[in-house]
Amino acid sequence: MPAKINKLNIFLSNLAVLNIKVHNLHWNVIGPEFMQIHKMTEDIYKMLQVQFDTVAETMKMQGKMPMATTAEYVKNATIKEIKSRDFQVYEVLEELDNDCGIIMDLAKEIRDEADENDNFQIANLFEDYLDIYSKQAWMIKAMLQEDVEGIEDDSDE
Ligand SMILES: [Fe+2]
Repeated sequence: MPAKINKLNIFLSNLAVLNIKVHNLHWNVIGPEFMQIHKMTEDIYKMLQVQFDTVAETMKMQGKMPMATTAEYVKNATIKEIKSRDFQVYEVLEELDNDCGIIMDLAKEIRDEADENDNFQIANLFEDYLDIYSKQAWMIKAMLQEDVEGIEDDSDE
C-alpha cells in the first residue's frame, strides 16, 4: 500500500475496481445457481456505486481531492482484478469473500483513525460500512459453506 496515498483514496479505488470486478462475476457466473448469484452481484454493484459516490463527496466536504481516473484506481486499489471467463458459483463466492475481507480491513483502519482524530463524519460513515460488509460477509460465508461441501466429493485433497 503506497504510504503517501490517503486511505480514503485507496478505499475509493477499491470500490471502483470492485464495481467492475463484480460485473464480471455477475455476467460470467455459470451453474444451476446462476440466477441467485446474478441477482446477488447486482445488489452488490448497485451498493458499490452508491458508496463510490458517497466516499468521494465526503472527501470533497472535508477538503480532500478524490482520485477520478481509472488509471489511478487500478494503480492504488488493493482489490485484484480478474480477466473475464466462466466462473463457477464457488469461485464467485470465494472472490467476494476475500474482497469483502480486504474492504473491511481497510474500513476498520479508516474508522479507527477517524475516531482518534475526532472526525465523526468519516467514523460514522465507515461504522455503517462495517455493519453492511459484516452482514455481506456472513451471507457469503454461509453460501460458500454449502457450496464447498458440495464439491468436496470430487476434489483430490
Ligand atoms: Fe446487470
